[in-house]
Amino acid sequence: MKHYTDYSLKSLHTFGMDVRAAHFVEYTSVDELEALLVRMQSEWETLPWLHMGGGSNLLFTSDYYQGVILHSAIKGWQVVDEDEVCVHLRVGAGVVWDELVAYTVAQGWGGMENLSLIPGEVGASAVQNIGAYGMEAKDLIETVDTIEIATGTSRTFACEECGYAYRQSVFKSELKGKFVVTHVTYRLQKNPVFHLDYGNIRAELERIGEGISLDTIRRAVIRIRESKLPDPQVTGNAGSFFMNPIVPRAVMEHIREAYPQMPFYEVDTERVKIPAGWMIEQCGWKGRALGRAAVHDKQALVLVNLGGATGREIIALSDAVRHDVKEKFGVDIHPEVNFIG
Ligand code: EPU
Repeated sequence: MKHYTDYSLKSLHTFGMDVRAAHFVEYTSVDELEALLVRMQSEWETLPWLHMGGGSNLLFTSDYYQGVILHSAIKGWQVVDEDEVCVHLRVGAGVVWDELVAYTVAQGWGGMENLSLIPGEVGASAVQNIGAYGMEAKDLIETVDTIEIATGTSRTFACEECGYAYRQSVFKSELKGKFVVTHVTYRLQKNPVFHLDYGNIRAELERIGEGISLDTIRRAVIRIRESKLPDPQVTGNAGSFFMNPIVPRAVMEHIREAYPQMPFYEVDTERVKIPAGWMIEQCGWKGRALGRAAVHDKQALVLVNLGGATGREIIALSDAVRHDVKEKFGVDIHPEVNFIG
């Protein structure tokens, strides 16, 4: 187990702010995590704590975190079961998500290809229910292995027990801060069914011109993401800053009277999802800055750190954008990014 004090988190979160933490602890196994939880309930009982993954969905609102940051370095993956149709792969929470996607695509196992190049780690994929191009982590997750923080005991959640919905799970809501994910088991397809109907995937596949396979879909998704989303190594950001709002169908119909071109996605018979990026662009925010924070010029759902921005500056921009979207469309949009004080 690694333990550092007064530790810089600058390179460990994608917004790239110069933030330090009083304690940073990295564990490599379930045994080490259990020992760490004992320490947290004695020596560090009074301190706040935060479990971090790849730091791709966090906004630090101050420049010093007074508590303990935990990070999983539980690596590795293992086929735990397989038949003619499926492979069941159990993966450590500290595995980098896109390394896993690259591996499964190379094996010819389908399911993760549309989720290529999403930043972050496997543990967070199960907490956030990451999603892109018509696929979500919940479509692949079979079970989530956890340790309960209060008792140190292990508990395995079946997918149905995880309360998955768009960017939601029990680990972010009712059970927030109560369990640490140690492993996730995914079900992958040996005879993949391709999901090509979202966004520009088909057009990008045609441009690549090498037919349709897991590998070409992965390359198409990577190209689309790279063309729209800023590289955090160059420009600090946390991907989509806001969630797409889910609204009653009548709200969407009312807005479309004035804006017939507004895109939307079906959720169920009563509700639809409106792309917040489209609304933000209509408000004139795309590419605009407020201080050292800006709305990305190629995808308005993304807020960027132009260099040296503080968490407060990003929040000021977020508030201004939310205000204008509410005023123009009457719709509340909410950050997807977690604010850490
Ligand atoms: N749009 C605009 N202007 C913009 C951005 C989007 O008009 O500046 C329109 C697009 O033209 C399109 C629609 O909005 O008609 C949807 O845009 P896009 O396909 O780019 O996706 P999104 O809804 O903005 C979501 C996810 C992304 C994911 C993409 C692709 C959320 C919060 N975001 O964005 O996830 O990559 O779909 O599936 O659901 C992330 O979570 O960090 C992330 C990047």
